[in-house]
Amino acid sequence: MIVLGIETSCDETSAAVLDGDGRVLANVVSSQMAAHARYGGVVPEVAARAHLENLPAVLEEALTRGGARLEDVGLVAATAGPGLIGALLVGLSAGKALAFARGLPLVGVNHLEGHLFSAFLQPGGEPPLPVAYPFHGLVVSGGHAELVRVEERRIVPLARTRDDAPGEAFDKIARRAGLGYPGGPVVDRVAMRGQGDRFPFAIGRAGDGSRDFSFSGLKTAMLRQLEKRGVDGSRLDPELLPPELVDLLASFQRAIVAALLDRVASVHAEEGIRVLALSGGVAANTELRATLAGWGLEAGVPVHLPDRTFTTDNAAMIAWAGLLRFRRGEGTDPAAAVARSRWPLGT
Ligand code: KG4
Ligand code: ZN
Repeated sequence: MIVLGIETSCDETSAAVLDGDGRVLANVVSSQMAAHARYGGVVPEVAARAHLENLPAVLEEALTRGGARLEDVGLVAATAGPGLIGALLVGLSAGKALAFARGLPLVGVNHLEGHLFSAFLQPGGEPPLPVAYPFHGLVVSGGHAELVRVEERRIVPLARTRDDAPGEAFDKIARRAGLGYPGGPVVDRVAMRGQGDRFPFAIGRAGDGSRDFSFSGLKTAMLRQLEKRGVDGSRLDPELLPPELVDLLASFQRAIVAALLDRVASVHAEEGIRVLALSGGVAANTELRATLAGWGLEAGVPVHLPDRTFTTDNAAMIAWAGLLRFRRGEGTDPAAAVARSRWPLGT
């Protein structure tokens, strides 16, 4: 069986072809980054229009690269939420049209659930790692920070961000530092040559005794530090930053990683983590990957780090989450799939 995945929840137009075992045969991602870069963030209407323009070619390319024809597709999986509603509608409608026209089952996939299971996918056409329940998942992206326990038939939220998502914090700080959009990759690169312990920031907590994350305090503290140094958002060359600014960015990244690690460790102490699956755009971060891998070795917990091609938004993870749902015999009526901008994990 061939699974066709479609992802259009934000600013990447993506289509993927998987086989029935979850091998990724093709994963085509067309980024709209350039269209949004001059606004310093994603503009919803621009995103929806670009999806509409790009999706037909992206779909065709995925089928060609995957060596599949439309007739081979046995299951369609399209992101149904959460995300930008206009953007979601483009991909989901395309998927539904295909499913109706060919009489195929369709799974409307939760984008965050797609991220969650992406850590099991393998590159190079290899079969995915076995998914054994329960496992814990940490999804960190431009819109979300969620720590959950994943059981076979339910997802239990354990911690989420009260305000900014980590990727959002990276993006806002990078923009204010004049480093462009998206901010995560450039801060990641700059931080590698900095001293992350030079400016110790406090670990953000929700402040009410819950496990929730909070990154807005850190962001504000960091903005103040930038302001103090006269950094005003004018374009800077990341390769030519003053050493103090390099250390500041490294310290900011260290604080985000420390907050995430802190919560993982406390959940492990409370209920025991068997396997930790990291995912989301921020899962590409070098320090976060190294820190969690190191913690896993020490704690005796296998930590699955997604291949970098599966960290930022992509349709392979959507096809995979859809296939897992299909195997569990859950909801495959295309008429029942509706786009929703808000869709918390576990609901
Ligand atoms: O998962 P994703 O593609 O989109 C959402 O669902 O939000 O995540 C995008 C986010 C952006 O905020 C970007 O700055 C961040 O992931 N990101 C990173 C890195 N690469 C991407 N953050 C930190 N380090 C990176 N290497
Ligand atoms: Zn995402």
